[in-house]
Amino acid sequence: MNNHRYTLFSGSTGLLGSYLLRDLLLENLPLAVIVRPGRKQSADERVAALVADWEKVVGRELPRPVVFAGDLTQPDCGLNADARRWISENCDQVLNNAASLSFRNADREGEPWRTNVNGTRSLIDLARTVGIRHMHHVSTAYVCGIRSGRVLENELEVGQEFGNDYELSKVEAENMVRRADCFDTTTIYRPSIIVGDSQTGYTSTYHGFFAALRIGHTLLTRVAIGATSGRALLKLLGIDPDASKNFVPVDWVAAVIARGVQSLEARGSTFHVTHPNPLPMSFVAEVVQEAVESYSIAATPDDPDLCDEEWFAENMRTQLDVYQRYFRNDPVFDTTQMRSIAGDIPCPTLDEDSLMRMSKFAISHDFGKYPPSLIPAEAEGTEPAESTEPASSAAGSGSA
Ligand SMILES: NC(=O)c1ccc[n+]([C@@H]2O[C@H](COP(=O)([O-])OP(=O)(O)OC[C@H]3O[C@@H](n4cnc5c(N)ncnc54)[C@H](OP(=O)(O)O)[C@@H]3O)[C@@H](O)[C@H]2O)c1
Repeated sequence: MNNHRYTLFSGSTGLLGSYLLRDLLLENLPLAVIVRPGRKQSADERVAALVADWEKVVGRELPRPVVFAGDLTQPDCGLNADARRWISENCDQVLNNAASLSFRNADREGEPWRTNVNGTRSLIDLARTVGIRHMHHVSTAYVCGIRSGRVLENELEVGQEFGNDYELSKVEAENMVRRADCFDTTTIYRPSIIVGDSQTGYTSTYHGFFAALRIGHTLLTRVAIGATSGRALLKLLGIDPDASKNFVPVDWVAAVIARGVQSLEARGSTFHVTHPNPLPMSFVAEVVQEAVESYSIAATPDDPDLCDEEWFAENMRTQLDVYQRYFRNDPVFDTTQMRSIAGDIPCPTLDEDSLMRMSKFAISHDFGKYPPSLIPAEAEGTEPAESTEPASSAAGSGSA
């Protein structure tokens, strides 16, 4: 489908969003993006830099999206009357990919509620005002909460419990878009835990798999207790080695969603964008151990920055609390509907090699201390430069 009408797109600067931006621009789908200005760059500059990087990677010029500086948590998403008029005249669908990936906050004025619930409401209101009648919404497979057995794509609330506020906020958002009477069609995409690029290892957020890696890395680099064995890490995290988790590479998730956004047949359905082969946590822990032993610099007993186990327990308490619930065994995500629109897009195997590449990327960028570049380091021939922006994934937050 390419009817030359624009898709209004939120969240194009994040991990998944930047891959979606690439894939949709490669397909020449006209895009209008709502982007928050950065501390040092305008919304326009942020998008121009992102598109320029992708042009270097894909080796061709890409069409430029129309950029609106905005923020979902503001009334009218922070857009003025001119912007709203332009959107009304040119956009016929919205792709809501923006979200906060903070795991918990009892205060509903804060994140993840502010963006995931209030922001989604504000985007629906905008769509209603400007007359957009088709919604594509990126949710999460973990709206299933704490379930076992097979989870169907059409199911949402079946009386399940939830692991954290992020999951709850995403359920509320999904319910809101489903019930909004201003849309003719609502299409929902539910990825499981997004890891990096299956080919380059690139990531810009450090949740899920990377949180386990960061804990192993911290143990090795700050606490010389030699407790980095996969088994010790699982014990520390309180994780059942027989549990399996569903990880998906960002490039594949973007390819599937890009297919959905462009397909009339996809409209109105819900899709689990999940891996056919979940990974046993015992395997994940082995990779974490191998990765930190290969890429992290171990503390020595005479290191002046050496910390003791008490420091570790204190500093990692929030993360450990969050991740003990998070790394529970996953249910089986049924993918019948997803395979009907994207069954021909093979999901890359997440093997030791690809996870090691992602681990190397995360450790060499010190989990966000150095800004990631989409252009592979070998191509640029440079070492990562220290970031002037805060890491996008703060300690104590998580995701799915
Ligand atoms: N990561 C996962 O494991 C995972 C798994 C399942 C589902 N998901 C879903 O996938 C989507 C993308 O996640 P991601 O991992 O790519 O997250 P991410 O890297 O943190 O990106 C989030 C995006 O949302 C934007 N955003 C956040 N708050 C906003 C606001 N108030 N107004 C406007 N834009 C805002 C961010 O803009 P800035 O650049 O300005 O911060 C960024 O572009 C989300 O809906 C998430 O819930 C993620």
